[in-house]
Amino acid sequence: MVADIALARGMTVAGFLDDRALEGQRVFDLPILGGPAWLEVCRSEVSVALGIGENRARCRIYKLCERLGVTLVTLIHPTATVAASAQLGAGVVVMAQAVINPDARVANGAIINSGAIVEHDCEIGAFAHLSPNATLGGNVRVGALTHLGLAASVLPGKAVGEETVVGAGAVVTSDVPSRVVVAGVPARIQRQREEP
Ligand SMILES: CC(C)(COP(=O)(O)OP(=O)(O)OC[C@H]1O[C@@H](n2cnc3c(N)ncnc32)[C@H](O)[C@@H]1OP(=O)(O)O)[C@@H](O)C(=O)NCCC(=O)NCCS
Repeated sequence: MVADIALARGMTVAGFLDDRALEGQRVFDLPILGGPAWLEVCRSEVSVALGIGENRARCRIYKLCERLGVTLVTLIHPTATVAASAQLGAGVVVMAQAVINPDARVANGAIINSGAIVEHDCEIGAFAHLSPNATLGGNVRVGALTHLGLAASVLPGKAVGEETVVGAGAVVTSDVPSRVVVAGVPARIQRQREEP
């Protein structure tokens, strides 16, 4: 999906990086170029877009790129709507039909997936992931590395902590702490989240 956005934006996509020694294979008719060792050698010739859904893994790869001095690309699908006053960090990906409204701030490496809505003045932490059709009312805060499942909603002004998971279809009606899994309508804590 991330490569598709880059192509739709008219960028040249050289291929994929993957640390599972899949060099030579092709995905989406593009080559897998190599892993971190390839990036270390070719770091001055390429920019990197983050195509990993899992938040902690995406954060790890972001930090590797940062350490190597590689430029992280921010990608916005042509059908997404991003307000002029919204701020997007490095390595953010905004997918098809997503909406990011005025004065919202989306920190580095976050994913705003297809059809997700980030209302005005929301604050999305680094490496958070809003799944397709997730909806945030105005002034919502979502902590770093938190994952909102498919079509999860957060009522205006509420805060969700860091590294938390909000289940698909949940409706968050009150603040949610860090490192828990919540689900249901209204969202209730199911369990603590295990350490990485
Ligand atoms: C909520 C969630 C994190 C729970 O995952 P889990 O801890 O592995 O839970 P399980 O699948 O073992 O399910 C445990 C129970 O919760 C229920 N459950 C699972 N997801 C639920 C949800 N979103 N809302 C309500 N109940 C849910 C299951 O039916 C099961 O109930 P049971 O014990 O009565 O059978 C997960 O189901 C979820 O919704 N993840 C988001 C996935 C997503 O949207 N991905 C998008 C990718 S782009």
